Amino acid sequence: MADAQLKTLFTEEELSKRIKEMGQEITLDYKDKAEPVVIISILKGALPFTADLMRAIEVPVELEVLVASSYGGGTETSGKVEFKYHSFKDLSGKHVILVDDIIDSGYTLEAIGRTMADYNPLSVAYCTCLSNTARRESDLQVNYNGFDISNKFVVGYGLDYDQKYRDLSFVGYLEGDEA
Ligand code: IMP
Ligand code: MG
Repeated sequence: MADAQLKTLFTEEELSKRIKEMGQEITLDYKDKAEPVVIISILKGALPFTADLMRAIEVPVELEVLVASSYGGGTETSGKVEFKYHSFKDLSGKHVILVDDIIDSGYTLEAIGRTMADYNPLSVAYCTCLSNTARRESDLQVNYNGFDISNKFVVGYGLDYDQKYRDLSFVGYLEGDEA
């Protein structure tokens, strides 16, 4: 992949347009809720997406962050993930929207959702910028998703390959890589 060429998949304009639509969708779903709405950004990848999304939502939202430990393999699907860092304590009486950059197999988000139960949120919704539908293994249903992609390893707009490319304003892929 070292000499692969970086191609654009979604431009900054396409991302911006779709995220505004997602903001409207979320606004409609939460505008009549009396309880606080908390966005939990799953770092590092969801950072740019969260920043744009929260400003596209027209109801007040609180912001928290979560760093989850990566875990190996699909064999631990019934387990919980360890939170390496999380900025919140108790989430009782609050609606949570978990925000991630991409859902792939779905195991990470599913495990995070399961661990969230320890914090007693009123509800948990899942929101991703991208969904790699071809690679899904978990049954988790995402409530809000920006774009479906198929079998490409993508970078940019928060997503990395070996910690690189997170700073790109667009989503791209490395040509020749179908992993
Ligand atoms: P899952 O558990 O397979 O759904 O993996 C989700 C996590 O893997 C995401 O939060 C990303 O951090 C990472 N990931 C999955 N697919 C990609 C990709 O195409 N590019 C960069 N990171 C990815
Ligand atoms: Mg991630």
